[in-house]
Amino acid sequence: MLLGSLCQQLRPAWHLQAPPSSDTCACPFREVATSGPLHWSNRQQPQSKCHKRQRRSPGSVASLPFTDPRNESLITQDLDHDDDEPTTSHQIARPEAGLPDRIGFLGAGKMGEALIRGFLASGVSIPSNLSASVRNAERQRSLSMLGIQIFGSATDGGAAEIAANSDIIIIGVKPQQAENVLSALAPYVRPDHLIISIAAGIRISSIESLLPEATRVVRVMPNTPCLIREAASAYVLGNSATPLDASRTFALMRSVGVAVTVEERLMDAVTGLSGSGPAYVFLMIEALADGAVSVGLPRDKALFLAAQTVVGAARMVLEGGGNGGIAHPALLKDHVASPAGTTIAGIAELEACGVRSAFMRAVKAAARRSEELT
Ligand SMILES: NC(=O)c1ccc[n+]([C@@H]2O[C@H](COP(=O)([O-])OP(=O)(O)OC[C@H]3O[C@@H](n4cnc5c(N)ncnc54)[C@H](OP(=O)(O)O)[C@@H]3O)[C@@H](O)[C@H]2O)c1
Repeated sequence: MLLGSLCQQLRPAWHLQAPPSSDTCACPFREVATSGPLHWSNRQQPQSKCHKRQRRSPGSVASLPFTDPRNESLITQDLDHDDDEPTTSHQIARPEAGLPDRIGFLGAGKMGEALIRGFLASGVSIPSNLSASVRNAERQRSLSMLGIQIFGSATDGGAAEIAANSDIIIIGVKPQQAENVLSALAPYVRPDHLIISIAAGIRISSIESLLPEATRVVRVMPNTPCLIREAASAYVLGNSATPLDASRTFALMRSVGVAVTVEERLMDAVTGLSGSGPAYVFLMIEALADGAVSVGLPRDKALFLAAQTVVGAARMVLEGGGNGGIAHPALLKDHVASPAGTTIAGIAELEACGVRSAFMRAVKAAARRSEELT
């Protein structure tokens, strides 16, 4: 009920424009164009009521027997905006002030910059509503090219400036630097601030203990594909965070990809999987291309085909379940591995090399490392 009424309040800010559609279906769950790159996978999937969604696509396989996380959020439909046209009409807002949120970054390295660029590309924010505290002169120069406001080191006055000029403050420094930066921020935190930490391994209780009582904190684990609005993020609310803070966080992270909520005890697992995962996939793409090069394919074509193979396979898992479900990868694999064929010969080699267990061990090792950072 509460979230539903909040959605009503937020609707004008998020939903000023109806998403353009490529087809003639007039229902609110109409399909999006399928010809462009990654249209669908970047949006929350509607809880299918559309006649088109209810049909299982030819060749689809059975969905997994669990709830599709894409259908979990109660505010899905309020965020179903167009993914391709940057527009300022979707800026997230403080309904009580009737103004768009100003977002300040304390530390904007690889991840912070990826988020800034993603927020700008999605239109969820505009340069004049973004600022960053950056201590390195070269980074200050390169980030100022984006038109955002730049302040100095967080521990040298930058935290005060960011607090004065922001509604949402994103802690974007390394986990080891978080304590100093949070301590520098603490005297300037107002009750209306929302603090979002993206630092791996830093628990909400540690963050809250460094900030004034009842500070609204959310912990998010994004990943670098937010740069191209294909992030897989998870978030968890702190003790004083409100349902509106959840909505604002979800809106921000949805603008750069997909987002799910998890319990905090699972954030290390998320860090090991989606937080660190892009690097595993980069390595996999490089290795696949190396294999093709070793049997004669030119490097450029090998890399192109390897990367697109990963995109295509991932989309089949996300879209192949029919009725909006997630397809089980084992079923998809069985579909394409014909008896005595080429694919099963390749799979046999992967199994002999222990690739399956190597990926499992990678996720577990990264999750353990995240735990150690606490
Ligand atoms: N990279 C990822 O894939 C990823 C994914 C999920 C979450 N995260 C989290 O995101 C956070 C940032 O990671 P990252 O990869 O972006 O690291 P990074 O590139 O090292 O960025 C951290 C930035 O914080 C700056 N910084 C440090 N102290 C500062 C201060 N007092 N004032 C202002 N800026 C300060 C650093 O400046 P200097 O350059 O001067 O040191 C650096 O630019 C980490 O907590 C990490 O756990 C990262």
